[in-house]
Amino acid sequence: MRVREMTHSNDIARMRELEVLLERCNYQYYVENNPTISDFEFDALLRELQDLEAKYPENADPNSPTRRVGSDLTSEFESVEHRYAMQSLANTYSSEELGEWIERITREVSDVEFVCELKFDGTAISLTYENGALQRAVTRGDGKRGDDVTNNVRTIGSVPMKLRGEGYPAHFEIRGEIFMPYASFDRLNREREAAGEAPMANPRNAAAGTLKQQSSQVVARRGLDCTLYHIASDTLPFATHIENLEAARTWGFKVSEHMKVCRTREEIETFIAYWDTERKSLPYATDGIVIKVNSYAQQRTLGSTAKAPRWAVAYKFQAERALTRLVSVDFQVGRTGAITPVANLEPVQLAGTIVKRASIHNADQIATLDIRLGDMVYVEKGGEIIPKITEVELSERPADSKPFEYITHCPECGSELVRYEGEAKHFCPNSAECKPQILGRIVHFVGRKAMDIEGLGGETIELLWENGMLKNIADIYDLNPQQLASLPRLGEKSAANILDGVRASKGVPFERVLFALGIRFVGETTAKYIATHFRTLDAIAEATTEQLSEAEEVGAKIAVAITEYFADERNRAIIERLKSAGLKFEIEEKQRSSNALEGKSVVISGKFVGRSRDDMKALVEEHGGRNLAAVSANVDFIVAGENMGPAKRQKAEKLGVTILNEEEFMALIEGAPTTEHTPTEPEPTKVEAKPIQGTLF
Ligand code: IVH
Repeated sequence: MRVREMTHSNDIARMRELEVLLERCNYQYYVENNPTISDFEFDALLRELQDLEAKYPENADPNSPTRRVGSDLTSEFESVEHRYAMQSLANTYSSEELGEWIERITREVSDVEFVCELKFDGTAISLTYENGALQRAVTRGDGKRGDDVTNNVRTIGSVPMKLRGEGYPAHFEIRGEIFMPYASFDRLNREREAAGEAPMANPRNAAAGTLKQQSSQVVARRGLDCTLYHIASDTLPFATHIENLEAARTWGFKVSEHMKVCRTREEIETFIAYWDTERKSLPYATDGIVIKVNSYAQQRTLGSTAKAPRWAVAYKFQAERALTRLVSVDFQVGRTGAITPVANLEPVQLAGTIVKRASIHNADQIATLDIRLGDMVYVEKGGEIIPKITEVELSERPADSKPFEYITHCPECGSELVRYEGEAKHFCPNSAECKPQILGRIVHFVGRKAMDIEGLGGETIELLWENGMLKNIADIYDLNPQQLASLPRLGEKSAANILDGVRASKGVPFERVLFALGIRFVGETTAKYIATHFRTLDAIAEATTEQLSEAEEVGAKIAVAITEYFADERNRAIIERLKSAGLKFEIEEKQRSSNALEGKSVVISGKFVGRSRDDMKALVEEHGGRNLAAVSANVDFIVAGENMGPAKRQKAEKLGVTILNEEEFMALIEGAPTTEHTPTEPEPTKVEAKPIQGTLF
């Protein structure tokens, strides 16, 4: 073999080796909760595989561990038919109903074993495996058809992409729940609040919303998890549900540890009673117990109704709630000026903690529930961070109670509140002078995910503001050592720390600067999309609302917020000062393959033969073009794969937008001169298959 061929086969062998190693590490980390290598070592191996895949894209495995990182390109979800319908479950809410169900079952089949399981509170998923490899992940949809969310599901560490062990059928579907553990949920909501976005109501909504995200990179960061509880196949190795699930565990799936075979109603009731309490210490949300007939033969005898199997039932837990008195309501003002009412309660014990405060979302909620001061109210913890008021106990309402009068003026600065169309919340419009808004914006600006100015915490910001040194984010770059030294409670070291942090922040990349500005609804991810799309702040500032909506992930609401931000001359003045201070207001250009698509706006639509839609979009960017989400007159051409939607095609034809097929598109970019210097004689590659240290794995 010649040197080049040898290197090639070594590289391919190394790719296969890395795939196996990284998947093993993933399994140990996500399923066994037992990491065997450091994050640093893992990242180094992953990067090595990414580099090899970039070099040999034709040899990259679609189930490669690199796919778990996700892609920042958007994808539409294809609707696919379920081979086995995805049914839901009949619910019972009381011991009597459960008893009736058990009686019905024992009348029809004898000698029954039941399996009791936790009912996970997330969103259902069906995973298809062919010869041990993950083929497809589909949501429940209407039970007959669901959305293909494979790319997003691949980012979930506990979902095996290749199976381990043996004995699995050549083709099977395995179903379970994708859920968001409390820790991920709390982190997500902290991030959303920091970005001025409404927090997610509960982990279930957060899981379902995340799974339908257009960008798998966003999904990868959200910390979803997946547990499996049902297998469907024409050929299964065992005759009972529990045996097959135990087998599935050996194939690499995360299967709940908390399942129990029960033979009597008493045993089932004991399991329910135990978990009704114990579930509170689980790190994820559950909303009941599922009871299933264990034997497949008996399941077949019992059959199904149109909606649900007769051989299974869900016993739903009562949401935990407590009754207490509403003492007063505070109104918090956020950095965007949004007003959030917070209830002060007489302290009450609820789900293991003492509750003194509860959230009330807005004025409408107060009106709908007719909440009044002095009322006895029910508070519930539904997985939310703070409990919420769900109902008023009218029988205990004081005789002299009066309807609640919502505030009309800002509790901080006294400005008259406004209510924007389509917004549930009231806002204080005095963004320039209202203290919590000013301080909130500065705190956001210096935050770790924004400009990351260490040493400048909330207290110091307030101190600087009180001493007239900090009125807006641009003032940060005018702070000087003398000023800081004059402040009480601020040592020399802290002052130096702040100034170092301020200096270092000038190197923060544009997308983070854009996020730091604190434009409403422009969170970390949206800022990244907008920065990539428009490349400079000036381009964003000049874009019309319509042009802004053309960027991926930018809906009308965000586009309007951006337009309004730049329409305000106070914001423009601050940006000018930040520019003079030397902050980055342009994206750093990546090396391009060619300029063939320079200035061209492209829509990629449908399914392609040679490459995935995400790969096609990456090619557009590599060759200098821009991806647009929707067909409009601003689109230069569409690359249409198989099954491009007829509505899209019609619109394109009406607007006279050129439609290219995959081959024509490839010809367009392949013929283009490269922007890189190409050596005439390819250099032999220096990468060699590295032996892996036995101790690590
Ligand atoms: S079995 C044909 N088992 O609850 C039986 N479902 O309310 C399929 N769920 O759609 C479902 N935990 O999304 C089953 N241990 C468990 C479950 C479970 C949560 C969900 C599932 C289902 C919904 C019905």
